[in-house]
Amino acid sequence: MTFVKMASKGKVGIVGSGFIGRGWAMLFASVGYEVKLFDVEPSKIDDALADIKVQLNILEEKGDLRGHLLASEQFSLVSKCDSLKQCVEDSIHVQECVFENVDLKRKVFKEMDAFASNNVVLCSSTSCFPASSFSEDLVHKAQVIVGHPVNPPYYVPLVEVIPAPWTDPDVVTRTKSLMTDIGQRPVILKKEVPGFAVNRIQYALLNECWRIFRDGIMSVEDIDTSMHEGLGLRYAFIGPLETCHLNADGMLDYCNRYGQGIYKVSETFGPNPKMEGELAEKVHEEMSKISPVENLVERRRWRDARLTALARMKRILNERDKLQ
Ligand SMILES: NC(=O)c1ccc[n+]([C@@H]2O[C@H](COP(=O)([O-])OP(=O)(O)OC[C@H]3O[C@@H](n4cnc5c(N)ncnc54)[C@H](O)[C@@H]3O)[C@@H](O)[C@H]2O)c1
Repeated sequence: MTFVKMASKGKVGIVGSGFIGRGWAMLFASVGYEVKLFDVEPSKIDDALADIKVQLNILEEKGDLRGHLLASEQFSLVSKCDSLKQCVEDSIHVQECVFENVDLKRKVFKEMDAFASNNVVLCSSTSCFPASSFSEDLVHKAQVIVGHPVNPPYYVPLVEVIPAPWTDPDVVTRTKSLMTDIGQRPVILKKEVPGFAVNRIQYALLNECWRIFRDGIMSVEDIDTSMHEGLGLRYAFIGPLETCHLNADGMLDYCNRYGQGIYKVSETFGPNPKMEGELAEKVHEEMSKISPVENLVERRRWRDARLTALARMKRILNERDKLQ
């Protein structure tokens, strides 16, 4: 990779250079933002930079690099900083990616608040803590928002954008535009709710999978197969609501035809199962036969390769749609 220094579209700070921080760094750099990485453990930043360089080269070789810049140009936009101050100062957006611990989030946001201009968006990657749980006492609390990615963010474009009750509406608009600019697909939650939206949907599904297994209706393998060889295929292109719309003559017709039946079946779901004890052990045992725990690293690589292929196919199909 030859080193080429690029002119940037603006500075973005990343706080926490772990799994998610690296993903965000690559996404922001892919369209020309200058990315400044910070971590309390400086060695993590060096690891992140080395990893990003390798990943960008591999993606380029395979033709899967995002954005229109070369891997070397993207990498030249990412660098480390020695302090949180350097990371936050002059940034247009800071993406916080520290451990999932609300006390830590509160502490990090308090520290960022001290260096924040009136113009920066302070965005958390948190998977479950609403922005109101760690930003209430901040001077710049109107600039705080959650931008929750789906792992791995480089391959899965969805980002849930969730404002606190006091977040400035302009901050919502700016975050949405920035996420769109980096090629992600933002969805906006109009208000905070535990679990945000994606995990609530995911948990509803998980609860039913556990009940079906617990009640001896299906094996772990057949439950998962029902998704990846069934429902999941269409969900890669249309959501559950449009599925209803298309499976009848529009949504109202679907409700008339199937609404009562769906309600009746749903009434039999019963209380949510607890994912613990003997039941958890049984699910783990069956799952481990299909996907042995010692092979999880390879299996994750396989998943990422499949996701990349799916993302590539979706991109080609979307471009073809635009030409028609
Ligand atoms: N991994 C996922 O699947 C996933 C998906 C969506 C959202 N998230 C969220 O993203 C965030 C980061 O998750 P991750 O998986 O990247 O974690 P991670 O453990 O890989 O990385 C966290 C990093 O934060 C650093 N850190 C800790 N305290 C810090 C501080 N005070 N200042 C600066 N850096 C600090 C750590 O050294 C570490 O490098 C979490 O809030 C998580 O819930 C994770």
